[in-house]
Amino acid sequence: MKRIITLLLLILSMFNSGTAFARWTTIRNGQLWHDTDGNVVQAHAPGFIRHNGRWYMVGEDRTHAFRVLPDVNLYSSKDLVKWKFERKIIQNHVTTPELGRSRMIERAKLMRNPKTGKFVVWCHYEAGNYGASEAACFESDSVDGTYRLVWSGRPMGIKSRDCNVFQDVDGTTYFISTTEENQHLGLFRLSDDYHEAIAHTQLFPGQRREAPAIVRVGDRYFMFSSACSGWAPNQCKVSHTTDLTQGWTPLENIGDETAFRTQAAAILTIAGTKQTTYLYVGDRWMDPTLPESKIIIFPITFDGDKCQFHYMEKFDINFKTGEWRP
Ligand code: DGJ
Repeated sequence: MKRIITLLLLILSMFNSGTAFARWTTIRNGQLWHDTDGNVVQAHAPGFIRHNGRWYMVGEDRTHAFRVLPDVNLYSSKDLVKWKFERKIIQNHVTTPELGRSRMIERAKLMRNPKTGKFVVWCHYEAGNYGASEAACFESDSVDGTYRLVWSGRPMGIKSRDCNVFQDVDGTTYFISTTEENQHLGLFRLSDDYHEAIAHTQLFPGQRREAPAIVRVGDRYFMFSSACSGWAPNQCKVSHTTDLTQGWTPLENIGDETAFRTQAAAILTIAGTKQTTYLYVGDRWMDPTLPESKIIIFPITFDGDKCQFHYMEKFDINFKTGEWRP
């Protein structure tokens, strides 16, 4: 009888604290992630989509550091913590003959095109000395299918390096990259099929920004970016606007002087039943070697046109309600 009462009290206290239904997931920073097979997750400078109730993440496989240039791996997860290795979607010497011999891929970013139903990757498609300054586009019929090269080159003839993508709520989609020898950022509007860049707007002229990542919060767009200092982290800066092609505010510092030893890769939006939470995803490069670079995640809060980084070694997130707690 005493045991039953104790058990009932325990269940009651779980209901009270909310733990029975809370489904909190703990995200820990500063350590290597392992996939569900126990292998180190290799998905540096990652890009993400939500598809069929899962997160899909693509990123650079730098297992072999500089010896073999990165392949692109695909993983999936329900909670950003337990990652299943799906497959290598772009592979040296296989996907294109020059890849891994004269070309390498950095900052692969994945999108699903709602008009065509295809899965499209845009990335930085580079030569060893960063002289090619090109981008590439790959496409597949399914998220974990065969990705074929659609196109590679300089978007609209413009030299292009570090990159990202942004899909706006009205379906307009952009490739954004560091242009003309790292001088500017270029915002490239993509064609309906996402196969080519069809309009270019130069942003932040002469300000030498890279690792751009855009998020939309209400009607306002925020862009996070870093300076160009190789693999060494530097101060993240933020700018905002209500029109992607103009009106960006002057760059302002955010976070500490090294973005908590990271460089931006993506901003995730977790729209829960109680709140929307925004997660910064960045790379802690060379920690201490390139293959051991860590993926770091922490919340960003927005208040009107202000925003704040909340770096923590670990925090909990509830993907159902959207809440997070230190
Ligand atoms: C910083 C960039 O953001 C990375 O993607 C990579 O290109 C390194 N520089 C190379 O030094």
